[in-house]
Amino acid sequence: MHFRSFRFSLRIILPLALVLALFAFAVVPLVENLTLRWSIRDLDARSQLLASTLQEPLIDYVPQNAATKINRLFDRAIQDERLYALAFCNPDNVLKYKTATYPESIGCGSARVASELYQTTMKLPQGSLHITESPLISDAGQIGKLILVHDMGFIARRDADTRKYVLALFALMAVVISLITMVVAHLSWRRWIDAVKGLLRGGLAQRSNLPQVVAVSPAGSSQTPPEIRPLEVDLRALMYEYNIDRRNRDDAAHLWTPDKLRQLLREELAGDEVLVVSNREPYMHVHTRNGVEVRRPASGLVTAVEPVMRACSGTWIAHGSGSADRESVDRNDRVPVPPANPSYTLRRVWLTKEEEEGYYYGFANEGLWPLCHIAHVRPVFRSADWEMYEAVNQRFADAVIREARTDDPVVLVQDYHFALLPRMVRDVLPKATIITFWHIPWPNPESFGICPWREEILEGLLGSTILGFHTQFHCKNFLETVDRYLETRIEHETSTVSYGGKLTQVENYPISIAWPEDSVHSDVAESRHSVRTELGLPPDRLLGVGVDRLDYTKGIIERFQAVERMLEQYPDMVGRFTMVQIAAPTRTSLDEYQNLENRVRTLVQKINKRFSTGSYEPIILKTEHHDTDQVNRYYRAADVCLVTSLHDGMNLVAKEFIAARDDERGVLVLSQFTGAARELHEALIVNPYHIEQSADAIYRALTMPEVEQRERMRSMRLLVKDFNIYRWAGRMLLDASRLRRRERITTKIRSHSRKSLRRVV
Ligand code: G6P
Repeated sequence: MHFRSFRFSLRIILPLALVLALFAFAVVPLVENLTLRWSIRDLDARSQLLASTLQEPLIDYVPQNAATKINRLFDRAIQDERLYALAFCNPDNVLKYKTATYPESIGCGSARVASELYQTTMKLPQGSLHITESPLISDAGQIGKLILVHDMGFIARRDADTRKYVLALFALMAVVISLITMVVAHLSWRRWIDAVKGLLRGGLAQRSNLPQVVAVSPAGSSQTPPEIRPLEVDLRALMYEYNIDRRNRDDAAHLWTPDKLRQLLREELAGDEVLVVSNREPYMHVHTRNGVEVRRPASGLVTAVEPVMRACSGTWIAHGSGSADRESVDRNDRVPVPPANPSYTLRRVWLTKEEEEGYYYGFANEGLWPLCHIAHVRPVFRSADWEMYEAVNQRFADAVIREARTDDPVVLVQDYHFALLPRMVRDVLPKATIITFWHIPWPNPESFGICPWREEILEGLLGSTILGFHTQFHCKNFLETVDRYLETRIEHETSTVSYGGKLTQVENYPISIAWPEDSVHSDVAESRHSVRTELGLPPDRLLGVGVDRLDYTKGIIERFQAVERMLEQYPDMVGRFTMVQIAAPTRTSLDEYQNLENRVRTLVQKINKRFSTGSYEPIILKTEHHDTDQVNRYYRAADVCLVTSLHDGMNLVAKEFIAARDDERGVLVLSQFTGAARELHEALIVNPYHIEQSADAIYRALTMPEVEQRERMRSMRLLVKDFNIYRWAGRMLLDASRLRRRERITTKIRSHSRKSLRRVV
């Protein structure tokens, strides 16, 4: 209240004070100066007039010495209130005639015989006087001079009057200006506040909610007052960042668990169904010597998404690639999984050999995979592969549409195998919420630009409601690529792309793992012992572990080179350190992968030969499938885990290793080129191309004091536990549910306004 009245007073007082100060210091002196100059000019003119009027009688009277006449003439003349005195001096400058009022001190004025008009002002005890000397010239020549003395007091009186009027005028002006200022300030303040409020409300509404973005985007801008427009983008971006931050904090407030995810689905997506579509299936049925076995494939995607599906109970559509898959499904190609405790449905799609060749091996793994990874393997693009890729995307899209029980399902599209599918589904189910997650990196526009079907891929992906990447950096690359190759409208500050009247939110959702329950782990000492025994190693052997698919992006060659360099540089480690590499065979029919396997084997042989002593070999290579429990035992038995990918979207091995170490021991050496390096700052971060640096990091890890290991591990474990896979899925589903709610409201409003319009017409 006080503040308001203070502000109000300010609005009145300030302009008033300003106007008065202006009046006192500038206007008054100026006006006085001006009036003085006018008055003097006025006096000069009057004096000249008077002098010429008096000249004629004086020319007659002076030669006659007619003093009485002259005095009478003078007395009559000074009856004018401004003319104070008159005097006449002869050519010898002798004062001959004067009025009684004539000040003695003036005498004959300038003490010269003026031959022309001479004017001056003087300050005398009587006040300021204006003195004019005018020569009197008769036919016989100059007969003397007339001195006219004017009283300048009237100027001061006139000044006082003028000042009074000007003051009144200025006071009136000040009041009017104050009132106008108040009204204008009030109006523009309201407008400003309304505009900023509007922007902020827009920003808040944009908490990843696309329909609101539509509402505030270009139309919103045109309503924004011009003075706010320069701030508009910044304000929106600020609000967007604030909301992301807030969302993260909201999410972080509670631990995400399967129950929480289920609850979210029930409450937020009530009645909605979740469909996952990926190339790799979560469970493969394979023929083995012991009969049909169920396997979990080595795939980061499967590791991450499977627990989510167990919690959500939907349908997972994937390529049935196991040798016993066909025998394990019902007549609708469905099988309930996980086999031991079914909680969702796996719907298998069958591909012919040619389809698999063209779509999976060809376009996806010889084209898009090397295109998106900077691992210096050149992508290969063939038209035939592209056609197969399109056809298989359509097959899977049809399967999604067939599996959907409603016209607005939530579809989670996984990875680079299905870049075209989002648009294909969108065309048939326009109300579907399509969340596409790109599990691998997205390159910069130049790199992506070499793909001959870049526009089609971008268009396909922009059929998604949400397009997720692991990192903000990949989102940025994607937006720049879209900007370069498609005609779209991109709002960078809200990370949205508008294409064909539909919006896609491009957001980063760093993927993670399911935090293991305490009971799943065997005793660490037991794991250390059994793994070393299995590998034929003594109990005190320092152990390094690597767990990867045998893929050229994983930096396995560079890792072994680093081990070799470490043994070279620190010979005390020879015979004390062994590196065990679990390398799951992958995409084995592709040349690049076969070459890699050969190179890896050759290098291992070379290093082992170089450092072997007796039964000691520094590297053990295990190129076979290992199930989750086996891998976990290795994680727990290791002193150091090496993740040296040359480029990796996230890399979940890093997170799995951390989750497995409930003893808070063991060190993670992690490539700076993984998404994980952006979260796991307590790992020893290395550039895998820098062999010496990696070698030093391995040595440092092997000699790291326990306290330091514990501190680093504890901090990373807290992070991975919090930022687990349920949170990843939860954030995406929450965003999706918000969008769907808004979309429903927007549709209702639209149909309502259409009806009202029809009624009016
Ligand atoms: C990466 C990809 C996944 C893929 C996995 C295994 O993690 O992002 O989509 O499933 O590699 O590759 P594969 O070709 O065997 O499925």
